Amino acid sequence: MQLLDGKLVSESILAEIAEEVSARKKAGKKTPHLAAILVGGDPASQTYVASKVKTCEQIGFASTLVRLEADTSEDELLNQIRFFNTNDDIDGILVQLPLPKHISEEKVINTINPEKDVDGFHPISLGRMVLGQPTFISATPNGIMMMLAHYNIDTAGKNCVVIGRSNIVGTPMSILLSRNTNPGNCTVTLAHSKTKNLKELCLQADIIVAAIGRPNYVTADMVKEGAIIVDVGINRIDDASKKSGFRLVGDVDFANVAEKCSYITPVPGGVGKMTICALMKNTLLAVKDR
Ligand code: GUN
Repeated sequence: MQLLDGKLVSESILAEIAEEVSARKKAGKKTPHLAAILVGGDPASQTYVASKVKTCEQIGFASTLVRLEADTSEDELLNQIRFFNTNDDIDGILVQLPLPKHISEEKVINTINPEKDVDGFHPISLGRMVLGQPTFISATPNGIMMMLAHYNIDTAGKNCVVIGRSNIVGTPMSILLSRNTNPGNCTVTLAHSKTKNLKELCLQADIIVAAIGRPNYVTADMVKEGAIIVDVGINRIDDASKKSGFRLVGDVDFANVAEKCSYITPVPGGVGKMTICALMKNTLLAVKDR
């Protein structure tokens, strides 16, 4: 079994981006600037946004973080987005999800200027992605494609089961893997909560992408010998022995599945790192396109 090491891969890609940013600065070109908006105090979201801002600093991007209270009105948030939409110094805008219940995620996403939609969540970005046109591709599925490319994994003709049909991971992942690209050209099954024969489907799969958000959901008895396992889950489990009071586990029962598969992403240090890396790539793309 070989680890798909998101830390290693993302560090090498981030180093390339940092070099390009440094060359841009020397040539007098604009520094990429990412604006992040965090609404409320969800601890996991705070951690993710802090990592994104920190990565911007590491690679020479400018960043702006706006923290809004959990009871911020939808209008206030939309106005903040509109401000960034028209602010020429801002190249990319991200609103960390999930949002408090009283705010419509759909309205928020639709308000982001598609030219600055570095999360790739806007209907225009998603539509372009489905049609194979150049666009911002959502960071988690794109990061997974970058990881498969880095390890030269031949995906053509492989059976792939994606578990979870969210707009931001499962659905775009299933489309990217089925497109006529490299990596890609998979025969994809998109499984979800109503899927009846998940174990049988998974046992046929050469590649499993687990994006359900349930700890240790994919167990060794569901995995074919030699399969490739991509674990998108980042689940917090109470653990009194940890200083933080929790540990992170994926959607895959790593210890047992690792003994059967050919490649696997660890949690942490797998897909999560690639998500941030893909977001930074999109932000660099955004500054170049404007
Ligand atoms: N919440 C979980 N993943 C993501 C992501 O990739 N971007 C944003 N904005 N929110 C998220």
